[in-house]
Amino acid sequence: MAFVNENYCNLKESFLFADIAHKVSAYAEAHPDKKIIRLGIGDVTLPLAKCVVDAMAKAVAEMGVQSTFRGYGPEQGYDFLHAALVKYYASFGVTLESDEIFISDGAKSDCANITDIFSNANTILIPDPVYPVYLDTNIMCGRHIIYMEGKPENDFLPMPDENVKADVIYLCSPNNPTGSAYTKEQLEEWVAYALKNDAVILYDAAYEAYVTDPAIPRSIFVIEDAKKCAIELCSLSKTAGFTGTRCGYTVVPHALVRKTESGKEMELNKMWLRRQTTKFNGVPYIIQRGAEAVFSEEGIKQCRESIAYYQENARIIMEGFDKVGIKYYGGVHSPYIWLQCPDGMSSWEFFDFLLEKLQVVGTPGAGFGKMGEGFFRLTAFGSRENTIEAMERIINGLKK
Ligand code: MLT
Repeated sequence: MAFVNENYCNLKESFLFADIAHKVSAYAEAHPDKKIIRLGIGDVTLPLAKCVVDAMAKAVAEMGVQSTFRGYGPEQGYDFLHAALVKYYASFGVTLESDEIFISDGAKSDCANITDIFSNANTILIPDPVYPVYLDTNIMCGRHIIYMEGKPENDFLPMPDENVKADVIYLCSPNNPTGSAYTKEQLEEWVAYALKNDAVILYDAAYEAYVTDPAIPRSIFVIEDAKKCAIELCSLSKTAGFTGTRCGYTVVPHALVRKTESGKEMELNKMWLRRQTTKFNGVPYIIQRGAEAVFSEEGIKQCRESIAYYQENARIIMEGFDKVGIKYYGGVHSPYIWLQCPDGMSSWEFFDFLLEKLQVVGTPGAGFGKMGEGFFRLTAFGSRENTIEAMERIINGLKK
């Protein structure tokens, strides 16, 4: 008899975005005449930057020629991409060794897979609301999970509590879904807490490219000694429109050392390397050449243009909510606008209202945790035209 993982019984029936996609396609099927505007999942709409496409096209051509063809690459990524990332990090004041960087097919997979190198005995501290992958992947391992509350009173940025004992801490800044971002001083407090408690911070920086204020760190490693207590997960999905292309990177510093339950000291970088070389065969050469181009001078410039386009969408959304007096958060260092549902509606009631009455899709806050109830997330990743039209529909719909 093969037994299956009992922990799966503790998960919700389906993953948040799968659930929403299902509801939206059911509605679309029943109302084929309606134009639905999708501002739900944070999926980009602008094409890849030209220099990225050129780099990938060149790599494709190389793959078709005997002398430049490549088979398996290094599981942790090619040196050329490490070098590009070392330079990128240096541009905001962080010095990394190239073998501290691991290239992957995206932050979602790394967020999930990183659970492999931690013991099930750990207490996991997760913000609420937050990107649901942290919670679901730890439920899958049957871990002890505790929460810290994000609410308007703390700007959705929970801070460490000396009375709470946590071993692995997830932080997401700029935050998905609330768009709030920790300051340097706040991150210093987190690093101090982690060092004091021998904890490890899993720092999700997938939205770092949206930070517009130099006082907001783009990497946790700008904080002194963060290399002794943090792993950083990052992605090209939102930085460079790679949601369908797939590439991310995780930084595991050599200075990060913790004990096994039996007391053996382990370097987490070595553990992650062992994990990746065993379970992963690396990101395709063609994609890594595209990623390298993202971090070139021209790539950074071209990707910034797309980010600026989305930031303008965010501004349009916020301006719309100002007009109807709806309170919102985020939207500045983030492509997400996190709003209070109007008229006391629950998150899912507002979702149904927007879908059925206005044909606009967003993400119910409750899907990001119980503290998200009564809130709602819209993404700025739509086209300009759709963003303007969605806001017109919402403003008119709410005035009625
Ligand atoms: C989101 O909408 O929260 C993100 O697109 C999900 C992700 O990046 O996996």
